[in-house]
Amino acid sequence: MIGDIDRLFDNLWFVVGEMPEDLNKKPDIANVLVYCAGDRLYLMDSGVGLQMRAGIERALQEAGTARSFTLLNSHAHADHICHNDLIHTVPAAEKHHYLAEPGLEMLDPCAYFGQLFHQMSEYYDPLTGYQAYRLKYRLAGLLRDTLALFVGQERAMTMLMPNVFKKFEPIHPSRETIQPYETLLKRELRVGNVTWSGWVLGDDAVWVLEERGHSPDEVLFYVPEHRLLHTADLTFELFPTWPDSNSQVTREALHKCLAMARAGQVQVLTDSHHHQVYRGQSDIVAFLDTLLSDHERFREVLAQVMDEQDGLTVGQVYARVRERDDPVVRKYLACEFPHTPPSLQAVIVASLLEMGYQARGPQRRKRFFRPGSDQGGWNVARKQIEAA
Ligand SMILES: [Fe+2]
Ligand SMILES: [Fe+2]
Repeated sequence: MIGDIDRLFDNLWFVVGEMPEDLNKKPDIANVLVYCAGDRLYLMDSGVGLQMRAGIERALQEAGTARSFTLLNSHAHADHICHNDLIHTVPAAEKHHYLAEPGLEMLDPCAYFGQLFHQMSEYYDPLTGYQAYRLKYRLAGLLRDTLALFVGQERAMTMLMPNVFKKFEPIHPSRETIQPYETLLKRELRVGNVTWSGWVLGDDAVWVLEERGHSPDEVLFYVPEHRLLHTADLTFELFPTWPDSNSQVTREALHKCLAMARAGQVQVLTDSHHHQVYRGQSDIVAFLDTLLSDHERFREVLAQVMDEQDGLTVGQVYARVRERDDPVVRKYLACEFPHTPPSLQAVIVASLLEMGYQARGPQRRKRFFRPGSDQGGWNVARKQIEAA
């Protein structure tokens, strides 16, 4: 249940968030960790909603007062930052708050996601890409197009966003207390035979590992004392999740986590949206392995669909993917909105672009072509030259 506390160690608490069945009605809420190392207290992410806030406050109370309090944000997505203002209420002589630099531009969820949806609109209509609440999203599309006549398309998309983020309120990112991790001395951090770049906080209490695959600002947390790795949204099934995600970087980071786990350096794994704790080498390795192999399989399916017919729109690719009798396709379909935030079509667009397919055609109705296909680009240019 939201806000429940699982005391994983004497000095470390896991506060449970939620990925609700229906995201149209409720927000997703990232899990949170509270960790007490000597006279230093750490809060990793701050979740969403009053139930979650109460859970975090209980965990902080159990942890007791400390000389220093540090709030660490894994990244700036709204489901992780709504109660950052807790930093003002925790009694501590010294307070710190960190977020990676690119996150500073992402703290206003309406402006940030308005921009992401506008980017997606280059290729397809992200509102008709939703398979749930189709009527609602088509009406929202009409409203957007009407507004766009007066304020332009990006602004119109942004104007719809308060409707989406109303359910996250109150949103208190505590912008004024944030210091970018990048202002600290960056170090090479070795865990077993894996090397990360990142920052060490306290007396070796928390290692902040640069990941930047799920979003340009995402970091992971490693607590050496307990060999606990918190992978935030890196281990979210559907990736690349947003236009600013990078699946190559995500895969590399997942492989590093896997190598750490295989080397026995991860005893406990938590993340933001699996509301459970993974313990022991075999469970952790299996969890990470499955994420990677499912992702590879989904890319194979996309490549097969594109091999069968070039020049498909995103909606057509999606329809053909759906027809596949494949366990990973079934799993991904069961994950898409409203069960998690992205539509599978958003993931398909980002994947095809990363896989090198070329998008051509009018805005929102682009078709995807194999690199070097006859439908345009270099081959057409060459034929034109030959004809001349
Ligand atoms: Fe996220
Ligand atoms: Fe998240």
